[in-house]
Amino acid sequence: MYFRTISTVLLGIFGLAMAQIPLTFDLSKDQIFVQGNWYNKDGSNGKSVVTPHAFFTQCMHHENASGCDTTWSQRYWVNTNYYQPGRPIFIELAGEWDAAGDVDGGYWHAYARQYNAMLIVLEHRFYGQSFPVQNPAVRDLWLMTSQLALADAAKFITDFTANNNLNGTSWVSFGCSYGANLAAWFKLKYPNHVKAAVSSSGPVEALYDYPGYMKTVSEVVQEIDDVCHDKCTTHSAAWKHWLMGVKILVIFTRRLMTYFHHSSRNCFFITQFSLWCHSVDWDGISKEQMFLSLGMNVWADNAPSGKVTTACNMLGQIDGDDNVQIYGDFMEAMGQDGGCSSMKKRMEEREKFLMSQEAWQSGAAGWDWQTWDVYGQGCGRYGSQIATSNAYYGGKDLDSRCIIFVHGTWDPWHTQGVTTPEADNTVIVVPRTEHCADNGNPTTPEMAAAQAQIMTQIGTYLSDPMC
Ligand SMILES: *[C@@H]1O[C@H](CO)[C@@H](O)[C@H](O)[C@H]1NC(C)=O
Ligand SMILES: *[C@@H]1O[C@H](CO)[C@@H](O)[C@H](O)[C@H]1NC(C)=O
Repeated sequence: MYFRTISTVLLGIFGLAMAQIPLTFDLSKDQIFVQGNWYNKDGSNGKSVVTPHAFFTQCMHHENASGCDTTWSQRYWVNTNYYQPGRPIFIELAGEWDAAGDVDGGYWHAYARQYNAMLIVLEHRFYGQSFPVQNPAVRDLWLMTSQLALADAAKFITDFTANNNLNGTSWVSFGCSYGANLAAWFKLKYPNHVKAAVSSSGPVEALYDYPGYMKTVSEVVQEIDDVCHDKCTTHSAAWKHWLMGVKILVIFTRRLMTYFHHSSRNCFFITQFSLWCHSVDWDGISKEQMFLSLGMNVWADNAPSGKVTTACNMLGQIDGDDNVQIYGDFMEAMGQDGGCSSMKKRMEEREKFLMSQEAWQSGAAGWDWQTWDVYGQGCGRYGSQIATSNAYYGGKDLDSRCIIFVHGTWDPWHTQGVTTPEADNTVIVVPRTEHCADNGNPTTPEMAAAQAQIMTQIGTYLSDPMC
């Protein structure tokens, strides 16, 4: 009860500030966690939509001339409220979600007002209502790559420019999260299509594991509630030898899963602590499973501060002498339904959901596939693409210019992004700021300063002949 009240209040606060940030946890909805994001199981994205959509005739692929023999309808939205002829066009390359409503909100409206820009959102292929192939099967998924998404954007810009007599118009790509990768990669691969890119919270480096994610969550815990953080780290020391034994087991035998089934309390404890307090390399077993069942539900989120506050408040209320008991009671109080013992069942339910229409509409199914392809995550179902992806785009050493990289230190993804200063690009790191939070209204002076810098820098790049 207490937990719910706190969360509702917190979500109320965050709801205002982060109305435009997709894919974060919402207690009031039935959601599923897929590779770092929460999706509504009913397929909706929860945003209000003002601007009606339009459809663009897009090529099936861009590999060769035959790619346009077959076409499909790609959804997009245009807002001309601030636009004056001759002024720039800002285009959001949407990521792994239904992009309806994206054009109607977000702080980029302030930038558009300043520069009298047109705003356009282009939905990513295989998300929302933009499907090259209906009811996609595995044989169709070669069509679902970031490379093809970038080529789609290039064709869109070329055709939109030609069809509307917009020759000479400067375009700027925008994006959040995976969309931020696309915005930056677009400037890299199609440098003449856009003058500049505004890349918010883009984890451009592909990694098999992402230990930085829980490390950041751990830092958020420490900054928000030092006592709570101490409690965790102190307890975990007592379990270290235990943990080491388990790691070896995990690596060498799958029978550990059987073990989990008989020891849910201990399982809770060690896996939760290992994910939270340390960055554990669980090679050989799915990190996704661990995240899903134990780590993510209670502590972590792309905007973690709300969940962390709630969890620390609850942990602080639980007394006892036995560390395992305390943590088990805590997990129960947080509504965790048996964790390890039900892991298999949950994974089965998840697999089933991911085949549903709603999963495709919301983006959950597409993202499940695409993270294997872009980030190479998973147990080798499709083989690792990490090296390929980093070689193709350059990881953090992305060889491009006129990109504004924005990150928040409370964003669990920020360690995979460009956060060190670069001469040819602009790097802005905002303290105590969460995933894509610069897309919303400023909530701190630091955020306001960052957004003012983005505002100015866009103008600088627009008039820079080198961009
Ligand atoms: C064009 O590319 C597609 C996809 O890679 C391929 O299947 C097809 O054979 C290619 N066609 C030609 C004429 O090269
Ligand atoms: C637009 O630009 C293209 C390429 O720069 C050029 O070939 C074309 O003539 C231009 N069209 C107009 C109407 O200016």
